[in-house]
Amino acid sequence: MEERILDGAETLEESASDLEQALRPATLKEYIGQDELKQNLNVFIQAARSRNEVLDHVLLYGPPGLGKTTLAMIIANEMKGNLVTASGPALQKSGDLAAVLSTLEAGDVLFIDEIHRLPRQIEEILYPAMEDFYLDIIVGKEGASAHSIRLSLPPFTLVGATTRAGDLSAPLRDRFGIVSALNYYEQKDLEAIVARTAGILDVEMEEDAICEVALRSRGTPRIANRLLRRIRDFAQVYNGGLITKAVAKDALNRLNVDELGLDNTDRRFLEGIIFRFNGGPVGLEALASSIGEDTLTLSDMYEPYLLQMGLINRTPRGRVATPKAYIHLGVDYENRELLGH
Ligand SMILES: Nc1ncnc2c1ncn2[C@@H]1O[C@H](COP(=O)(O)OP(=O)(O)OP(=O)(O)O)[C@@H](O)[C@H]1O
Ligand SMILES: [Mg+2]
Repeated sequence: MEERILDGAETLEESASDLEQALRPATLKEYIGQDELKQNLNVFIQAARSRNEVLDHVLLYGPPGLGKTTLAMIIANEMKGNLVTASGPALQKSGDLAAVLSTLEAGDVLFIDEIHRLPRQIEEILYPAMEDFYLDIIVGKEGASAHSIRLSLPPFTLVGATTRAGDLSAPLRDRFGIVSALNYYEQKDLEAIVARTAGILDVEMEEDAICEVALRSRGTPRIANRLLRRIRDFAQVYNGGLITKAVAKDALNRLNVDELGLDNTDRRFLEGIIFRFNGGPVGLEALASSIGEDTLTLSDMYEPYLLQMGLINRTPRGRVATPKAYIHLGVDYENRELLGH
């Protein structure tokens, strides 16, 4: 009989959040890709540490699932501070922010996700906290009895994350000493991420299968990890657990992920432009309502990748489908007029 040595992970029931934890790299060294950002951040972290200072405030922006939250955790970890997490939509009253700020200890990292969704009056409380580490709290009712008390804060690092840097007010953006964009991952980096995840999941995977999953992950680690978990299911049921290229391809097809990594919504986005709006130009709102999607979802989650892939262009009058989009959907671009599109 085969002998198996159980390690800690195998004896645990694998819950989604445990897995999420296990997949997040904990140090900059383990963080794959985004080399320029990583190298710069490494310098800033080392310099701040050797001066015994807190790291300057960091703004991370880029499409969802590229590793902003992961980086915030890494920054706290590398700076040996606690991570305090908050998010723009949850900080709607000045008291909400004051409550969070007043819990901070020296060297803590305050992570504010979706920072573009902070109301303007909350942003204004943040300015002096970021620049000079103090907080003005208004006490008493409005009118004569109202006055403000100044509360000094310990030095901390604010890490803000946003998918829409353009929505951030200029004064807030200017108060971040480090502003970094996250880009879609290159194929080789995605392959490394897929291989790393396969290792953590303890699933056997052939080289060309790793390549296939990376190719279809829309340049996004979160998607790579999600697809891999589903492919693992197919491999387990149909192939004794081994992920070959054929198993990966078959599973991806069943998951409706095509050769470019597009899913059903991506394709509806392109078909909407081509078939309902004669290839464009069309405004995002008109397109969203015609295909029954939310405008923000399209602009944050779908459009950036379609732009990056050269499947659509943005013009002053709206979005247009490129010849590549027609070809990808199997529509004859040259004869599109004849086809009535
Ligand atoms: N550089 C990386 N190397 C390895 N894994 C990564 C990397 N970046 C992200 N991941 C994995 O991808 C997943 C998504 O990352 P994360 O949650 O940090 O994205 P995000 O940018 O915060 O997304 P959102 O904008 O939706 O909040 C994480 O579970 C993490 O394990
Ligand atoms: Mg996040």
